[in-house]
Amino acid sequence: MDSIRVVGGNPISGEVTVHGAKNAVLKHMVAMLLAPGRYRLDNVPGILDVDIMGEVLEHIGAACTRNGSVITVDVPDKLNPEAPLDLVRRMRASILVLGALLARGGAARVAQPGGDDFGSRPIGMHIQGLEQMGAEFELRHGVLNATAPNGLTGTEIFLEFPSVGATENLLLAAVLAKGSTVIGNAAREPELADLANLLNAMGADVRGAGTSTIEVYGVPELHPADHTVVADRLVAGTYALAAAATGGTLQVNGCDPDFLRMELRKMEAAGCTVVRGADTFTVSGPERPNAQDIATLPYPGFHTDMHPQMVAFLAKATGTSLVTENVYAARFRYIGELNRMGADVHADGQHVVIRGVDNLSGCEVDGCDIRAAAALTIAGLSADGETIIRDAEHIDRGYDGFVEVLASLGADIDR
Ligand code: UD1
Repeated sequence: MDSIRVVGGNPISGEVTVHGAKNAVLKHMVAMLLAPGRYRLDNVPGILDVDIMGEVLEHIGAACTRNGSVITVDVPDKLNPEAPLDLVRRMRASILVLGALLARGGAARVAQPGGDDFGSRPIGMHIQGLEQMGAEFELRHGVLNATAPNGLTGTEIFLEFPSVGATENLLLAAVLAKGSTVIGNAAREPELADLANLLNAMGADVRGAGTSTIEVYGVPELHPADHTVVADRLVAGTYALAAAATGGTLQVNGCDPDFLRMELRKMEAAGCTVVRGADTFTVSGPERPNAQDIATLPYPGFHTDMHPQMVAFLAKATGTSLVTENVYAARFRYIGELNRMGADVHADGQHVVIRGVDNLSGCEVDGCDIRAAAALTIAGLSADGETIIRDAEHIDRGYDGFVEVLASLGADIDR
């Protein structure tokens, strides 16, 4: 296991251009299963999760080749419609092949995902929606066997929560279904709108993606298309918070500041100066942040995947902050690690209480998960002395060149 070593004290300043979004590209790769032929995806980050999704596609029969930030995917006529447990365990997003495989060939076998560090994370909404479209499910020996004996048929589905994954699974299923599908209370994430753009370029008829009602008019077949992946707003937000926590000034390029509207607004309220442009923004950190109350919510609310990084920033605020986690039942493992560095943070139910401290002090901490590892790095950048973040592989799942980028922005950091 690799570690990241960071010595705090240097402001994170300069200019960074963010790469394509993990939470978009993984879905784009699945969408390619909907029609045979050759696809080209541009602005693809060099991250572990893309490699794992590549393995999922190869297991299903597609061939993926990478050349820098471009991947080429060749999808054959005949697919092996299954995602085995070892791949689903390594990456939950593998379950998105359900909708696409059902739509393409009327069958899918996907290992039932178990729990993870964020709580149980069920997939009931994915299954209920697909059942409404005519799919049948049977769980045998830990594997979900899905079939659509009479093909999928469009219908009206109203989600009980705007789940990103459920919306995407249903969208992928609906594009080739008979008739039209309406997904109500849909997730509105920019990555989902980007997926709809790719699907429409492939010949689908998807309207309203990015709003809470998505209409899909089924078409008999789709064709390959080329696509450029939308920017990763979570990477953009992480680097912005690294600058904010160290009193630096950072220009973040390639990302529409509207994708981080709530996050940037909270950073301003905490004392940051934010200057917004078209596809670029600049953040300058305060001497010391003001305490803030924040609630995570589906887009356009404050993103749950920015919660740990924001808490790391608020750890040194003047006063007491309250962050309420509304998306996941349990996303608190990073707190104990942050407290080892001298923070005063505790969780009470879904609420995280952050009493600001004057200083953090570096020590050895566990990375826990992607955003926790990013948060602990931010804490390390603003702490006294040396912090070692163990299990740095978590960072590789979502950040391309994380250590190199931060080093180029002034951090004393290596792997
Ligand atoms: C996606 C993102 C993840 C982000 C999350 C919320 C990817 C690969 N991952 O995950 O980084 O944190 O959106 O923005 O894009 N739920 C149910 N039943 C369901 C489906 C979901 O109860 O059938 C619950 C989940 O347990 C969770 C909440 O809904 O508590 C949100 O999950 P969801 O929006 O589905 O997240 P993912 O798509 O898994």
